[in-house]
Formats: sequence, C-alpha cells, structure tokens
Amino acid sequence: MKELTSDELKKKFDSPIFHQISQTADELNLECYVVGGYVRDIFLDRPSTDIDVVVVGSGIKIAEALTRKLGRGANLSVFKNFGTAQVKYKNLEVEFVGARKESYQRDSRKPIVEDGTLEDDQNRRDFTINAMAVCLNQERFGELIDPFNGMKDLEEKTIRTPLDPDITFSDDPLRMMRCIRFATQLNFYIEDDTFDSLARNHERIEIISKERIADELNKIILSPVPSKGFVDLDRSGLLALIFPELLALQGVETVNGRGHKDNFYHTLQVLDNICQAIDNLWLRWAALLHDIAKPATKRWDPKAGWTFHNHNFIGEKMIPKIFRKMKLPMNEKMKYVQKLVRLHMRPIVIADDEVTDSAVRRLLFEAGDDIDDLMTLCEADITSKNLERKQRFLNNFALVRRKLKSIEEKDRVRNFQPPISGEEIMEMFNLPPSKEVGSLKTAIKDAILDGVIPNEYDAAFNFLMDKAKSKGLTIQSEFMK
Ligand code: CTP
Repeated sequence: MKELTSDELKKKFDSPIFHQISQTADELNLECYVVGGYVRDIFLDRPSTDIDVVVVGSGIKIAEALTRKLGRGANLSVFKNFGTAQVKYKNLEVEFVGARKESYQRDSRKPIVEDGTLEDDQNRRDFTINAMAVCLNQERFGELIDPFNGMKDLEEKTIRTPLDPDITFSDDPLRMMRCIRFATQLNFYIEDDTFDSLARNHERIEIISKERIADELNKIILSPVPSKGFVDLDRSGLLALIFPELLALQGVETVNGRGHKDNFYHTLQVLDNICQAIDNLWLRWAALLHDIAKPATKRWDPKAGWTFHNHNFIGEKMIPKIFRKMKLPMNEKMKYVQKLVRLHMRPIVIADDEVTDSAVRRLLFEAGDDIDDLMTLCEADITSKNLERKQRFLNNFALVRRKLKSIEEKDRVRNFQPPISGEEIMEMFNLPPSKEVGSLKTAIKDAILDGVIPNEYDAAFNFLMDKAKSKGLTIQSEFMK
C-alpha cells in the first residue's frame, strides 16, 4: 500500500476531468466526492478508469452540466429510476449518484432509497476500505473523509464492514462473496467479527443471482492464490451452497489403515500451482474441476487399494450440469474445460510408462491446439510431497514435451485430418455409407498415429489398397494408379 501526504493525495486528482467536475459542482452549489473503489485503488497503486462520484443532492444535474461543459466526446446516460447518471469521456467512465440513505427488505436486494448526507452514504457501503471519500469542491479539493478508518485497515490489510456486519451483509448478501473476493485478491485478513457474521448469514446468499455469484467466483479464481478464497468460502459455509460438488471432494476415508489423499486440498494446490504459470480463467477452471468426479467414482479394491476409475470421463460429463447450474457459459469455453478434464490423465500415464512416439502422437492428435495447456495442467497436478517422485514426473513430462515438439515438426499431427476421406473411400470401392468405410478410415488414422506410415496421401493410398485387398474389395478402375 502507498502512503500519501495530503498534498500527494491532492495531486492524484490534479487532472482535467476532476477539475471540470469540481467547477461544475461549485457552480451548482453542490457538495461532491469521489468515493469507493477509485479512492481505495489510489492507495493500492492500482490505477482505475472507473470513477464513482457521490453528490449531496442530484447526481444527474451535475452529470448533465458536466457533459455540456466537456462538449464533443462526452457521452451521457441517465438512469432516472435509479437517480444515477454516467458520463463517458475518453477512456473514463464517471458514475454520478446522489448521496443516499438506504434500508433493505429481507427478501430482496432492492433497497428503499431516500436522499441522505455523505455520512449516510458512507455508512451504507460494504467495507471500510471501500467507504473512503475525497472531496472535489474547490475549497476542500483533495480532502480525505475516512470516518471508519479505512486507511488503517488498508495498512493492516484488513477487510471489515463499516457497520455491524450482520446489517451490512443482510442488506446485500452479495457482499459476503465480495468480502472473500477482496480478501483473496488483495491478500487481506477478514476481521473476526466480520468473518463470524459471514458464517452466521451465509444462507442469505440464496437470494443472490447465480450470475453475480459466478462473477465473484471468477474473480477469486483469477486471484494470485485462489485457494485462500476457497478455504474461506468453505469455513463460512458459503461453499456448500454455491459449489457443493467441490466441497464433496473434501475428506479422507481409511480402510485397513490405507487412506486416499484429500482431493479438496489437492485440487486447491493444483489450482494455486497453475496460477503461477498462467492467467487463463478457463484453464484455471479446468484445474478446479479436474478431479471433480473422484467422489462419484471412488471404490475400495482389496488388491489395488483406493481407485477412481474413469473419473476423467465422468468428470467431463458432470461439467455441463455444473456450468448450467452456476450460469457459466455453455459454449466453447465449457467444451475446452471438458476436453482438458477428459485428457488430464493421459500425459501422466505416458510419463509413468515408457514415452513412445505412438502414444505422444495420439495425445497430440486428441489435444490439438490445447496440448500446451494440457501439459501445463498435468505439471500443476503433480503435488506429491515426495520430492524424488515429483522430480521424476517432471523430468518425464519434460521428455513428453520434447517428443511432442519433434513429432509435431516431423508429422504435423496436430489438428490432423486423415489424408483420405470417407467419401473418397466410398467412391473408390463403390461402397454405401457403412461400418466398413469407417473401419478403413480408422485403420488409416491408426497407421499414421502409430507411425506405421507417414502422414501423406501416397502412403495412405498404398496402405488402403493392401487393407482393401485383404477384405476382398476391388477398386473402381478410374482410381487405379
Ligand atoms: N458497493 C457496496 N456494496 C456492493 C457493491 C458495491 O457497498 N455490493 C460500494 C463500495 O463502496 C464499492 C463501490 O460501491 O467500492 C463500487 O462498487 P464496484 O464498482 O462494484 O466495486 P469496486 O469497489 O470498485 O471494486 P471492483 O471493481 O473490483 O468490483
């Protein structure tokens, strides 16, 4: 966090847009303040282009006058029903709102709104670090108004509600997700009373839309160390309500003194690992879901011990249901997550065995352009505490990666289409669409992937002729070479 003197803080607002707002407010004789995330982010040194301005009086009036003053290039949208207005100017979005006093009804996020003072407005905000305001009126330009000691909480890296947390969370239960999200994003501590209140009020999350919950969850997943957020979601009771499938991974069962690993903490470790390597949200989701079917597939086998057969395939099948329920996108992003979950065991099996060209070629064929992401997921999946074992896997993965590269250069099997199509086979042998055509096509594909023939038309043609002969098929004369 950045310590700033009052002069330094004033300087942060020394830009044309703030001076224009200041002038406009003074001309209309209205008090006006920048508030919330923009002020917080100045001290966190995270420059932002979203500016929230609270006006004691009509926010819409200032927004209209400001838009006239800025002239061409300024764009005004007024939301009369909410008493708010937005001015877009260059890359900035300035939201104007009248200071409010709000009270909420138990079953709705829709507040009853009355006009209020700056203090009322700060009272109704979610966290002390989000409740700081900076005055824009000329006489007090740059003055910080921080009634709840948000600065101290920023310094001490603490998330705390300005009012009794039971009131703040029950006013708007989405704030429970925001609480854990900010703590995770910023690596802050959730103050004890605030945390206890999360645990007391977690059931109120039910009135929040799945889309908003998913937005917050995605922000947790995009944080530097997301496991912190998931542990807090679990401890507060929220995880059981918003993502029970993940919670089901928790726990260790023991039979005859043999336990399996706790797949919840393993998954969180894999997620943290992958976050060190990549930022891609959907690859992070794949890490979170890679073992999601372990509870459903867990068996005790007296000879083999604990097994989770086919958990990758069952996991792949579970994903659409989870995405639909959580209102995550049911599109190519989901398909990508499914594919990685389905394939996540493959490189491990290869690396555990001898790394043959044929196995690597098949892997490349199935993973296509997602092969690098798959390898990254598999490397993150090695959480063994046994350093020697871990190193052995990582070395083998490095070997798989080298082989992938050389085979790709040699055979170009990524996104590969067999050089002879099903239609051609039908025409060549005057066959109707049938199983026979499919099996000839597969035989060519397998021969290429197994390295029996190169990925070329002539070689495939000769191979096909031999296969056809053995099946008693004759080629139409116009296709003979
Ligand atoms: N706010 C609140 N309760 C909410 C949402 C927002 O009290 N459920 C207040 C907070 O003061 C917050 C401000 O509105 O700082 C702006 O909200 P928003 O733009 O959603 O969040 P930011 O704090 O700017 O942070 P981020 O952009 O990371 O969501």
